[in-house]
Amino acid sequence: MGRGHVCPVCLASALDSGLRRLLQRPGRLLDGYFKEGMKVLDFGCGPGFFTVEIAERVGKSGSVVAADLQEGMLDILRRKIRGTDMEDRITLHKSSEQGVDLSQKVDFVFAFYVMHELENQTAFLDDFRMALGSKGMLYIAEPKAHVTKRGFDRTIERAETSGFSLIDRYSTFMTRVAVFKATVQD
Ligand SMILES: C[S@@+](CC[C@H](N)C(=O)[O-])C[C@H]1O[C@@H](n2cnc3c(N)ncnc32)[C@H](O)[C@@H]1O
Repeated sequence: MGRGHVCPVCLASALDSGLRRLLQRPGRLLDGYFKEGMKVLDFGCGPGFFTVEIAERVGKSGSVVAADLQEGMLDILRRKIRGTDMEDRITLHKSSEQGVDLSQKVDFVFAFYVMHELENQTAFLDDFRMALGSKGMLYIAEPKAHVTKRGFDRTIERAETSGFSLIDRYSTFMTRVAVFKATVQD
């Protein structure tokens, strides 16, 4: 999957499978980042493998905007949360190929396995920075199978140019992770 190739809806079940849950252990990836009451943007949410886990962590007083380019992915997530408590906490949002198109502010942007699908990463990183307050955080994870170390370095450099400071970087199961805080602007 190269830059600009969007993961098709037909792969949604693989993204939200028990096998992935077993191998990737989403709780281990998410714990420590989210607090009650936070507003989170799950950008490129797909079928919501992480969305519901994040919504559980931010609690009733928090909220998650689940954004995706493809209505088919949002439909799957819509069906998944229908009739559950999560309907009140999760707002589905259709993004475009050019930008996030989000009018509200958030505390945390979570972008898992999506940056390599964007033609213009800088435009989206600028949107993330706009959506975040001065204490905001950005979490980017990319699959090693599609993104080399050098490619990930370039994404980190772009994020720094867009107003983020790198606070952590590590590798985990098949995945490269970088965590940033928003740089305070005058
Ligand atoms: C590989 S999937 C990852 C889904 C999810 N984050 C996960 O880890 O299970 C990438 C997702 O990013 C979405 N995507 C690609 N380009 C996007 C854009 N411009 N705006 C929002 N979502 C986008 C795709 O539609 C797809 O659902």
